[in-house]
Amino acid sequence: MQCQLITGGAGFIGSCYVLRARRAGVRVINLDKLTYSGNMENLASLSGDKDHIFIQGDIGNAELVRHLLDVWKPDAIVNFAAESHVDRSIIDPDAFVRSNVLGTCSLLRTTKDWWLTLSKQEQARFRFLHISTDEVFGALRPGDPAFTETTPYSPNSPYSASKAASDHFVRAFHETYGLPILITNCSNNYGPRQFPEKLIPLVMLNALAGKPLPVYGTGENIRDWLHVEDHCAAIELVLKTGRTGENYNIGGQSERANIEVVRAICAILDELAPAETGKHADAIRFVADRPGHDFRYAVDCSKLTRELGWKAAYRFEDGLLETIKWYLANPDWVKNVQTGAYRRWIQANYASRSRA
Ligand code: NAD
Ligand code: TYD
Repeated sequence: MQCQLITGGAGFIGSCYVLRARRAGVRVINLDKLTYSGNMENLASLSGDKDHIFIQGDIGNAELVRHLLDVWKPDAIVNFAAESHVDRSIIDPDAFVRSNVLGTCSLLRTTKDWWLTLSKQEQARFRFLHISTDEVFGALRPGDPAFTETTPYSPNSPYSASKAASDHFVRAFHETYGLPILITNCSNNYGPRQFPEKLIPLVMLNALAGKPLPVYGTGENIRDWLHVEDHCAAIELVLKTGRTGENYNIGGQSERANIEVVRAICAILDELAPAETGKHADAIRFVADRPGHDFRYAVDCSKLTRELGWKAAYRFEDGLLETIKWYLANPDWVKNVQTGAYRRWIQANYASRSRA
């Protein structure tokens, strides 16, 4: 039986990947620290599954990671674990250095030491796949060509700087020690089970609660939206057939201005869960911009399509409708993530954003 060590597997993208891996018959060793965004409810359908082995722990805990590698001898490690929210990185950059940079470096070192004890054949079969982001490439202006795998790194936020640093370490472990690594750089994900600090679930849940819908700056900033299932399908393909030492971009080819996304959410909710008075879009508020707010991301994923045959299955508007239906059908999940800690974050991030 194939066995993978998946880190951050209780988060939004990691849990989607874990659920798919179990459906494909892969044994999953799921190492997750369960920070504010790690949520065991994402994995509720795996309760009682003896081939999903969950361990609460930090990727930076070398002793624990070495123990897991010795016991389970995984065929691959897929590293999702990270602090993932730009606004939080602006308030507390150190946490991003700890998990994303130091944590990844420790995970790499422990993996490399263990990997060197394997037979030559096992070493050649093993893969370390690191999940990164398009944000490491910096910001585009309207009309600029989309990011390719050779676009120079130019991160602008503490989050993207920490992800860029971790990518460099991953690459360096390939060049220096020959560790068979792969890196994927994906665009903004959306879909079920995303923690409601990110734009799409935040706006949707604020609308349902009759709260203001905060749009940073003018709302003209552009993101390239990728459905989480399409993302995970791409990761599976890269793991199976990607060339080691390479980066692969994964994008949704769905560039939308933030204000368009917010209006699309409002229009869907006007049909499915109308506001008590007026339209949901009446609650849109333009608020103070994010410092250093990257204007546009766009991902050229032609290498992935050309070399590995990947193609997105979701059209953004269909995926968005399906996502909103998932949140409407799972009020307990929503209620349970909106804890005191969540409310404190909303207060910290939005209270000081006066109207732009
Ligand atoms: P998330 O915040 O929902 O999940 C992160 C998970 O990692 C959580 O379960 C958390 O408990 C765990 N974690 C954090 N620090 C850890 C540590 N030190 N040790 C062990 N576990 C730890 O994030 P996500 O949206 O699922 O993102 C997953 C990965 O994808 C991240 O590496 C992120 O940078 C990358 N990414 C995300 C997006 C996106 O749009 N969400 C886009 C591009 C790249
Ligand atoms: P986000 O979901 O935080 O992802 P990222 O910063 O990684 O792209 O934000 C997506 C876009 O939406 C980004 O341009 C910032 C903007 N945004 C808002 O306008 N209002 C909000 O309340 C949030 C959280 C984001």
